[in-house]
Amino acid sequence: MSRKPLIAGNWKMNLNHLEAIAVVQKLAFALPEKYFAKVDVTVIPPFTDLRSVQTAVDGDGLLITYGAQDLSPHDSGAYTGDISGAFLAKLGCTYVVVGHSERRTIHGETNEIVLEKTKAALRHGLTPIVCIGEGLDIREQGTHVEYNIEQLKGSLAGLTADEVSKIVIAYEPVWAIGTGKVATPADAQEVCAAVRATIAEIASAEVAAGIRVLYGGSVSSKNVGELVAQPDVDGGLVGGASLKPDEFAALSAIA
Ligand code: G3H
Repeated sequence: MSRKPLIAGNWKMNLNHLEAIAVVQKLAFALPEKYFAKVDVTVIPPFTDLRSVQTAVDGDGLLITYGAQDLSPHDSGAYTGDISGAFLAKLGCTYVVVGHSERRTIHGETNEIVLEKTKAALRHGLTPIVCIGEGLDIREQGTHVEYNIEQLKGSLAGLTADEVSKIVIAYEPVWAIGTGKVATPADAQEVCAAVRATIAEIASAEVAAGIRVLYGGSVSSKNVGELVAQPDVDGGLVGGASLKPDEFAALSAIA
C-alpha cells in the first residue's frame, strides 16, 4: 500500500495570531497546488492562533490543513484551562499532536494520559499524531527500540484495529529535538520499521501497511529527502524549520 507523506509543522509556543496569518499566506504562495497531489502539509499552531489560521486557510481556499498541539482527555466540564477535541473539531482541525515529549517531560504526561487523549481525539474525528521517542541516556544504552515500542504499546493499549488505522505515529528522539542533531536515516528507519512491525502485531498487517509513521527532530530542507526515502518513514514532524515559510515550503516540496 502506498502512503502519502505528511509534513506537519509544529509551531510550539511561537507566533501570535497576526504572525500566524502572515506565515500561512506566505506558505500558500510558496507551495503551489501541484505539490498537494504528492504530500499532505499541515500546520500545528498554538490554540490562540487556530481561528486565524482557519480564516486564512478557508478564505484563500488553501490546500494545507491545520491542527492543535494538545487536547483534553475530557469532552467538556470543569477543566479550567483545557481545550476539548469537540472545540478543535468545530474549528476545522484535522490533526492533534498527542504525547509530544515536551508534554511528557514538562507536564508529566504518562502513556495512560496519552492513550486517553488519543481516544478523545478519535471520538471527535480528529487524527491524533501520537509521539514517542527516547532520551539520550536510552539511546546511549542501546535500548532505544525496546523503549519506543513500550511507549507505543502503552499509548495505544486496547485500541481496536480500526482506531489504530486512524492514527499517525511520530518518532521523535528527544536528543534530536531542537538540537540540530538529526538522526541518521538509518536510525530513523530502524525505529520506524519497529513501529510498523508492532502495529502489525497489535492491529493487523493491513493497518500497518497503511499507517503513516513520521520522523521528527531537527528536520530541514537539507535532510528531509534522505529521511523520507527510507521505506518506513512517511514524512516529518517539523519544529523550528516550520516557523520559516520558505524553508518549510522547501522541505514540503521535497517530500
Ligand atoms: O514537534 C516537533 C519536534 O519537536 C521537532 O522540533 O524540528 O525543532 O527539532 P525541531
